[in-house]
Amino acid sequence: MGASDKLIIFDTTLRDGEQSPGASMTKDEKLHIAKALERMRVDIIEAGFPIASPGDFESVQAVAGAIKDSTVCGLARALDRDIDRAGEALKGANSSRIHTFIATSPIHMQHKLRMQPDEVIAQAIAAVKRARQYTDDVEFSPEDAGRSELDFLCRIIEQVIQAGARTINIPDTVGYNIPLQFGELIKQLIERIPNSDQAVFSVHCHNDLGLAVANSLASVLNGARQVECTINGLGERAGNASLEEVVMSVRTRQDVFTCDTDLDTTQIVPASRMVSTITGFPVQPNKAIVGANAFAHESGIHQDGVLKARETYEIMRAEDVGWTANRIVLGKHSGRNAFKTRLAELGVEFSNDEDLNRTFMAFKDLADKKHEIFDEDLFALVSEDDANFDEQFKLVALTISSGTNQAPHAELTLIMKGHQQQASAEGGGPVDAAFRAIESLADSQVKLQLYSVNSITSGTDAQGEVTVRLEKDGNIVNGHGADTDIVIASVKAYLNALNKIHFSHKREHPQLSQV
Ligand code: KIV
Ligand code: ZN
Repeated sequence: MGASDKLIIFDTTLRDGEQSPGASMTKDEKLHIAKALERMRVDIIEAGFPIASPGDFESVQAVAGAIKDSTVCGLARALDRDIDRAGEALKGANSSRIHTFIATSPIHMQHKLRMQPDEVIAQAIAAVKRARQYTDDVEFSPEDAGRSELDFLCRIIEQVIQAGARTINIPDTVGYNIPLQFGELIKQLIERIPNSDQAVFSVHCHNDLGLAVANSLASVLNGARQVECTINGLGERAGNASLEEVVMSVRTRQDVFTCDTDLDTTQIVPASRMVSTITGFPVQPNKAIVGANAFAHESGIHQDGVLKARETYEIMRAEDVGWTANRIVLGKHSGRNAFKTRLAELGVEFSNDEDLNRTFMAFKDLADKKHEIFDEDLFALVSEDDANFDEQFKLVALTISSGTNQAPHAELTLIMKGHQQQASAEGGGPVDAAFRAIESLADSQVKLQLYSVNSITSGTDAQGEVTVRLEKDGNIVNGHGADTDIVIASVKAYLNALNKIHFSHKREHPQLSQV
């Protein structure tokens, strides 16, 4: 593929995706996702905003050290300290990029930055030059470009290209643009900026009007050759352009697009499931490409058509995006080696025997309750193990009684900060009773923001996967738990969230300040 025929995919699930409230991920969770993106052959993985907190720095550093085939990128405001921190975090990468940005719309310059346009240009140039001291691969974004003045955009972009930026990313930060107009903006920029041929033009669209993918595609038709996107469209507010929709639109409509990505699209569904499991953000059933109904044909007429010739109603093949029928991969009699091998095939490696043995024991427990173990079950086991770092609260035992003529009642035993404790409580339902029992011991002062249950696989013996979102002093965390008993899954999820909130810390948000 020639340079202009290739559409570069820049995934920002680990950065913009993680800015969705409650979507914060641990370092290990980010590593799992980064490896899935690498398997998918994503070109650039934006691993985080290193200056946000020591934890964010370590995550970017870990991804930089682990990923060999994709470029690893760190975000930095146009500030020396941000750029130095990003440069430091990316030191170990095979191939690194620094993505620096400053706002250029009148409303942002006046109210957020309180800077004059010429000062903004000077700061952008200085930032790009500083970033070039760490890597030749520097990306610049004029934040809120979608509401910026064209002449000013042309001025600042020409000068940052001169300063050494090799990718110019045009963000529709607030999701305000309409495809025809956003495509025209990209065309105008490429035509009017004299040195535009020295940079790749990229777009980063938010979905506030549901147009992120449409705006991204309109930009590609007008010369953009990089799209920034996220798995499942995760991201700030209504999210970013969804990777799977952008990639499959371009792949499916090669009669319209003159470029294509290098992606292995069969990795899309596994990556989507992984991101959903880790963040606790379920995928709606009718979501394009990765929703459970995306390839299901309910109406008799459709089924008949598809059986005769699949093209009658299918424009893509389910297997091309990674849909496979649930496969029974392991069972009660599977050994440690088979378990390890299957997880390695799913991209999960254990760093030591202790981790492997612990997860294998959890697998054996599960296989006692559930005869058919699917890939999804295995992944839930691993996620649960990742999440149970340094536990302050651990479930020892739970007994629930409930019925038509009986108030739901929970008897609970926990290890709390190293000591075994017992509690009991009544509630509106068994889950409520169990959570009340936990809180009678923990007294955590948290607010429950979200509780959701999903079935990991089909069948009534499937594991229920529960997400609990808790908030305390402005910090928001998601906890996950999986079990064939959904009340136990709920308790695991609640305790996981309590463990996380204990360790969560304030992080700087990249776009809420520039000083
Ligand atoms: O939406 C946005 O403008 C961003 C920038 C940091 C690129 O996420
Ligand atoms: Zn964004």
